[in-house]
Amino acid sequence: MRYGHFDDDQREYVIERPDTPLPWINYLGTEAYFGIVSNTGGGYSFYRDARLRRLTRYRYNNAPLDVGGRYVYVRDDATGDYWSPTWQPTPERELDDYECRHGLSYTKIASSRGGIRAETLYFAPLGETLEVWRVRVTNHRDTPAELSLFSSIEFCLWDAQDDATNYQRNFSTGQVEVVDGVIYHKTEYRERRDHFAYFACSEPLAGFDTSREAFLGAYRGWDRPAAVERGSAAGSIAHGWQPIGSHHVRLSLAAGETREVVFLLGYAENPRDAKFDPGSQTLNKTLVRPVIDRWLRPETVEQGLTALKEYWDRLLGGLRVRTPDGDTDRMVNVWNAYQCLVTFNMSRSASFYESGIGRGMGFRDSNQDLLGFVHMVPERARERILDIAATQKETGGAYHQYQPLTKRGNNDIGEGFNDDPLWLILGVAAYLKETGDLALLDEPVPFDNEPGSEVPLYEHLRRSLRYTLERLGPHGLPLIGRADWNDCLNLNCFSDTPGEPFQTTENATGGVAESVFIAGQFVLAAKELAGIAGLLGRDSEEVYFRAAAEKMAGSVAEHGWDGAWFRRAYDFYGNVIGSGENDEGQIFIEPQGMCILGGVGIDDGLAQRALDSVAERLATPHGIVLQQPAYSSYRIELGEISSYPPGYKENAGIFCHTNPWIMIAEAIVGNGDRAFDYYRRLNPSAREEISEVHRCEPYVYAQMIAGKDAPTHGEAKNSWLSGTAAWNFVAITQWILGVRPDFEGLRIDPVLPAGWPGFEVTRSFRGTTYEISVRRAEGATGRVTELLVDGVPVAGNLVPVGAPGAVVRVEAVIG
Ligand code: BGC
Ligand code: NOJ
Repeated sequence: MRYGHFDDDQREYVIERPDTPLPWINYLGTEAYFGIVSNTGGGYSFYRDARLRRLTRYRYNNAPLDVGGRYVYVRDDATGDYWSPTWQPTPERELDDYECRHGLSYTKIASSRGGIRAETLYFAPLGETLEVWRVRVTNHRDTPAELSLFSSIEFCLWDAQDDATNYQRNFSTGQVEVVDGVIYHKTEYRERRDHFAYFACSEPLAGFDTSREAFLGAYRGWDRPAAVERGSAAGSIAHGWQPIGSHHVRLSLAAGETREVVFLLGYAENPRDAKFDPGSQTLNKTLVRPVIDRWLRPETVEQGLTALKEYWDRLLGGLRVRTPDGDTDRMVNVWNAYQCLVTFNMSRSASFYESGIGRGMGFRDSNQDLLGFVHMVPERARERILDIAATQKETGGAYHQYQPLTKRGNNDIGEGFNDDPLWLILGVAAYLKETGDLALLDEPVPFDNEPGSEVPLYEHLRRSLRYTLERLGPHGLPLIGRADWNDCLNLNCFSDTPGEPFQTTENATGGVAESVFIAGQFVLAAKELAGIAGLLGRDSEEVYFRAAAEKMAGSVAEHGWDGAWFRRAYDFYGNVIGSGENDEGQIFIEPQGMCILGGVGIDDGLAQRALDSVAERLATPHGIVLQQPAYSSYRIELGEISSYPPGYKENAGIFCHTNPWIMIAEAIVGNGDRAFDYYRRLNPSAREEISEVHRCEPYVYAQMIAGKDAPTHGEAKNSWLSGTAAWNFVAITQWILGVRPDFEGLRIDPVLPAGWPGFEVTRSFRGTTYEISVRRAEGATGRVTELLVDGVPVAGNLVPVGAPGAVVRVEAVIG
């Protein structure tokens, strides 16, 4: 069953009814000012940091699920009837029709009741720190209508964690000003803050409110605000308690008439020494007022919207595919790429599942997210790499997370996730392959942000490898530390205390718990670094890195192979995990993917054998589960993985991040059918028809789909912010379609599913546009056998780097 449809021409997902199984959200903002917005107007906004600069409140885990948002009430002043055109927070007041269009960085929600149609467009313009709500109200009756509009938001007192907990202070700190129809929220501005929020309206006001209690009335909720019911605002000024913003506007509409009202919610900063009007405690508004005036004009709003569309045209225009599969085209050309940029902006901070107060930027996550957006915003990927690398320690170890505002490593979590450093090599390699910008390697980058400790970025990469080599266990495999990619495989944490964090408790470190996953990742990273060393002409280092990769591959073959698949790890006691010897957790997906990505087992058939085991034991119609059998009880020696009921999250859930590794592995061994079949099982658009089972948004990937051991097999959770976005993008574009940036050019190495006659790709690469067409000769099953670049045959599958600005035709034949 569907709840909407894709409008591919508009690049929108159109939700046709408000009661989606879960809030289906979208994001506003592209650079510094951001918000999340649900299909019923729920959500909140923040400036840069979802926790520390939260503009508006939101209530997670509430009932109904999605409370707090950007609500505008419409009131029929003749009858007193009122409703919210976004359905929430007045779901009892039925709408005659409803439609929500989630587009690229904007959302439009339209509905009608009693012949009055209201359409609200929400977006945050480029280059500004504000969001626009453009409300268009149309009177479809054949008589005039006397209407009122009431806008509403609830201000957050900046630090969202403190705001939600520290009432003894916060009920007394709230402050606002209302001047010329603009509501200014300035809590804590009197002391150490130089920033404030504002809420403005394009129309003359009939009234306003800034006190929540005055607006709603005591003991009332957002479903029936007293001011709206009454038809007049109270003109309240908040002193402490809960500051809100609400404008009251009256509209007289002739039959058939449409009126437009613009509301602005924004964030502004003042110079510290000019915070106030001279000699007062009044906010200095001289800088912000012109911004407000400009954006309240309809033509500015229109231009802002056009600019936003052009921005997305540019970003998405660099990689366009035309394949026989519509779900592939739609995801690659629009939604998957969009999700990759959202993960770049948000990391794991703010979604319906990430509360915006929890996690900072992950070292491993940020490096992997990069794989999905480096082709769209290479200069921002470059900055990101330098930020991440600056949190690395001299030992080569890495802070697991850092804060986006300070860019400093997070001491609460610290380091010791032994896969982390290696992701830096993989992120940098992806950047270099895309851009060819070797100068990045010479950039001076400090350790732990310590001024004076700068070394060239290249040295950071060497330390990453060394970090692993200095931490090998008894089988010559890397020590796992607190955890590897699987944050829940906590082999040095024996926790029997409720609430103790699995990730940071490391109370038993015998020094023998090893990870086969990190071993595979090391082989991959060491080969990449060897390639980089080769480009720099550091030949002896190249040889050394390749030898290190070989040696690690040898340890994997000796101690990491279980007979029909790669093992997962060795625990604190030196016992094997992910082996036929185990009663549960016999086979895990991660090492099958990562070892094969590293090239282990390709020549001797082990890779093929492992992939067959994955197909037999782990694959389900909804995707590939993380391990089998699921752990049926808590195992203190394994940690958080066994804390989840079977089939969820890391305990045998379909952890979608890992599935593309298998797709890529299948592509590497040449199995296009299986690679593409796995791709389609996860593709959200291909799952749209089963939205009642999947339940999350059909336009973006979710982190997890319940596995076959779960009663809700097929149900997705944690949509949007997941490495799943980047890796699926890489799997389909670079490995299945096979258009893959490499250090020395663009590789064309597709593995097609049977039944595909071919496909076309337009790809910008280092300033050249490649028009690529791939054709399969009748009955052929292999790889590219013929390559023509501008009509000239080229041996192998590498298209050399072209002239900047040129358009190059590439024809590839699978023969
Ligand atoms: C989740 C993991 C996550 C970890 C660290 C765990 O509870 O299951 O997916 O990586 O927390 O935030
Ligand atoms: C989500 C985390 O953000 C990511 O870093 C981790 O690899 C996966 N969970 C698996 O545990």
